[in-house]
Amino acid sequence: MSNQSKQENSLTMNIVTDIEAWQVIRNNLGNKTIGFVPTMGNLHEGHLQLCQRAKRENEVAIISIFINPTQFNEQQDFATYPRTIEQDAKLLSDHQIDYLFAPEVNQMYPDQYEIQVTETMISRELEGAHRPGHFNGMLTVVLKLLNLIKATRAYFGEKDYQQWLLVKKMVTALFISTDIIACETVRASDQLAFSSRNQRLNPTQRETAAYFPKILKQTETIEKIIATLQSHGFKVDYIAEKWGRRLGAVWLDDVRLIDNISTTPQLTD
Ligand code: PAJ
Repeated sequence: MSNQSKQENSLTMNIVTDIEAWQVIRNNLGNKTIGFVPTMGNLHEGHLQLCQRAKRENEVAIISIFINPTQFNEQQDFATYPRTIEQDAKLLSDHQIDYLFAPEVNQMYPDQYEIQVTETMISRELEGAHRPGHFNGMLTVVLKLLNLIKATRAYFGEKDYQQWLLVKKMVTALFISTDIIACETVRASDQLAFSSRNQRLNPTQRETAAYFPKILKQTETIEKIIATLQSHGFKVDYIAEKWGRRLGAVWLDDVRLIDNISTTPQLTD
């Protein structure tokens, strides 16, 4: 933390790690409009577009970085998740974000995760079927964050479409007054959606990975998509059409990638 407080001095952004300190700051913000982007850090262009929109559409922009242990299925995946807080803080400060909220695990879970949010329909399908418990952890932490930030608007990426649907459903069910806004998936020039996991791809895998969005978009039937992906060396968790989207999850060796596209306008282009 000593490094961090040194860094705070050279940044124009406030970094808040203590929840009680945050609550005092939040009270002082009063009725200002607040745009909020929850993240797990290791920020890339996808995150930054959400941040820019939060900044543009609100008086105050707040980003959280919290690597949420309860939404990881595997301890190893949590342990090795990239932690790049200093680099992230610099990026956010350069984008004129007002506050970075980065709480500690023990402060976020004073109940040791004995209180959980469970959705019983959508959360059991697709990602939920392949990652048991993932959406319980995600919804629980998002509820905590929404209660702490009390934002006017919170921004989520369509890249995690099922996550967005579930957050929207939770907010409606629990009468939370934050508007949940969906932002289009941001892609690299080869069409691969930006993701923290892309860093784990070597150059050959990165080239192969770029076939995933293209096959998802261009191939007509689910059976053909699965066969084409397999012929390129992907292991397919699922390909499905639902909620006006075509969604998929694949493995390239030990890296798991997800993506989805709209099935309404794009496919008829
Ligand atoms: P994380 O994976 O860090 O993503 C934070 C937000 O950025 C999510 O809303 C995600 O959909 C969005 N995002 C990621 N890649 C994107 C891309 N290429 N284009 C557009 N948006 C993109 O999702 C989480 O964290 C966590 O589950 C969280 C909601 C923070 C709860 O822990």
